Amino acid sequence: MSAEPLEIYLEEQDVVRSLRQDVRVGLTAEPKWLPPKWFYDARGSELFEAITRLPEYYPTHAERAVLAEHAGDIAELTGAKTLIELGSGSSEKTRLLLDAFTRRGGLGTFVPLDVSVSALRQSTEEIAAEYPRLRVRGIVGDFTRQLDRLPTGGRRLVVFLGGTIGNLMPIERTEFLTAMRAALEAGDWLLIGTDLVKDPAVIVPAYDDAAGVTADFNRNVLRVINRELGADFDPEAFAHVAVWDPEHEWIEMRLRAERPMRVHVLDLDVEFAAGEELRTEISAKFRPEGIAAELTAAGFDPQAFWTDPDGLFGVTLARAD
Ligand code: SAH
Ligand code: TRP
Repeated sequence: MSAEPLEIYLEEQDVVRSLRQDVRVGLTAEPKWLPPKWFYDARGSELFEAITRLPEYYPTHAERAVLAEHAGDIAELTGAKTLIELGSGSSEKTRLLLDAFTRRGGLGTFVPLDVSVSALRQSTEEIAAEYPRLRVRGIVGDFTRQLDRLPTGGRRLVVFLGGTIGNLMPIERTEFLTAMRAALEAGDWLLIGTDLVKDPAVIVPAYDDAAGVTADFNRNVLRVINRELGADFDPEAFAHVAVWDPEHEWIEMRLRAERPMRVHVLDLDVEFAAGEELRTEISAKFRPEGIAAELTAAGFDPQAFWTDPDGLFGVTLARAD
């Protein structure tokens, strides 16, 4: 079976309007910042895939190990009919779950949702070809805004992998989990991957690799703004910076202006001093008790917590109460 046409929850004009709004707010703030979802145009999605293959980027390897070990348990415990994946990207690790559900039987539909049309187009076509009995419904959407529109019917399992929940600010994370719970029925399930707090000497290189792939990924947000809004950022004039914040237990990605610059974007003249930093992303790291508490507060009942053998990355399976 071929994948169904992508369902569009997010029209191109909404995307540009929302980018414009984010750029206006973020670039006139002190300090300047930009939200992370704008990394992921076609090139950004490809760069992220390259990150997942870097030796330094342990989260993907570790999460894959957890899923390889426990996919059967997840299929058995949840007995899901519909598997929904948020921020699905290539859905590469998700195939471990699809394989387990295929062995068990009963899964009818796979629903990957992402802002990246290019990533979704490729993943849905590949998965539809690899799993001919599965209905594959890709959704172009924003998981911070459109959870109320997820497909209903049958026991659902929502998976949110890659530690992407850690890219939300704490307040947004709470809002996300609350909206997620409201979108589910009691008895539906949430599987969520979270990178764990550990020695910063392990974390920092994962976000500042030797080959410079992450640096290129970080600068991609400036290329997106240049293309979509006609701005004149010189991406090469910004250095990639990754800083561990021990108080918040997150790593912060920034772009540092290497010289003074004035950038024209929308009707703004944005001044950068030499050395000034623009925050582009946080990636929060979690403690098992913190994850459980946040899920419980949002109305979920955490039923299992698994890590890889090195204890780098955690995967929690929680049931909507
Ligand atoms: N789940 C994959 C990809 C993680 S990268 C993995 O574990 O490897 C984060 C993914 O989330 C990207 O594909 C990006 O396009 C998507 N994304 C980021 N912000 C989003 C948002 N607000 N709504 C929907 N998708 C988003
Ligand atoms: N969800 C990924 C993470 O937090 C996203 C990511 C990986 C990322 N590397 C990055 C975001 C570098 C910005 C810059 O690990």
